[in-house]
Amino acid sequence: MIGGLIFDLDGVIVDTSEFHYQAWKRLAAELGIAFTRDDNEKLKGLSRLESLDTILSLANPYNHQTGVAAQSRKIELAKRKNSWYLEFVRNLAPDDILPGVENFLVECRQSGIKTAIASSSKNAKAVIDSLAISHLFDCIVDGTRVAKAKPNPQIFLIAVKKLNEKPGSCIILEDALAGVEAARLARIRCIGIAPEPALLPADLVIPGFLNFGIKELCSFDRLIRNPA
Ligand code: BG6
Ligand code: MG
Repeated sequence: MIGGLIFDLDGVIVDTSEFHYQAWKRLAAELGIAFTRDDNEKLKGLSRLESLDTILSLANPYNHQTGVAAQSRKIELAKRKNSWYLEFVRNLAPDDILPGVENFLVECRQSGIKTAIASSSKNAKAVIDSLAISHLFDCIVDGTRVAKAKPNPQIFLIAVKKLNEKPGSCIILEDALAGVEAARLARIRCIGIAPEPALLPADLVIPGFLNFGIKELCSFDRLIRNPA
């Protein structure tokens, strides 16, 4: 029996990775750091500051600067990147919702399955507002609510609690390795979203929601039992 579905946002509901890429690339260029789309792939699911650290280590893998001055510089850099990222987010519209997602959400809610967002992004609410889909979720847990980002399972466990469910009655939908690992640590079943099954160690991997509805979700529920 499925009580709740917990959706990651970036890469599951909407593809914002190009926006993150463009904004990080602009910052990296200012810092004289070469930053590629492949590098950007590795940032999926990481928090903003972890992403910045990863980019800074591209220039110097041994330069892990700590201390108050280094930290406040990093916060300033991350803030600049975020202002460029938000320029893209402001132009998002309902048409940008990934194919099949909205129908799937409506179908689940009509079947009495609760829905939540659990996203590491501190911009999750702005993204959801631009897509005009907040009414399709019972709760939204974003990066402002947790001290530790995925792969820490905290964000998913908060979502389970807010849905008034148990980990065993929920299913997570995730596109990033860090998120799939967080689902495993939370002992919640996970459906990965990726173009190839080999790309994610999830209980099931699907390319998206165009050919995935309530019928397929229920067969997954029957086949893959709660790991707890
Ligand atoms: C995740 C994205 O959802 O949110 C990451 O996959 C991103 O790429 C992270 O770094 C934090 O996002 P934001 O919007 O708080 O900078
Ligand atoms: Mg994601």
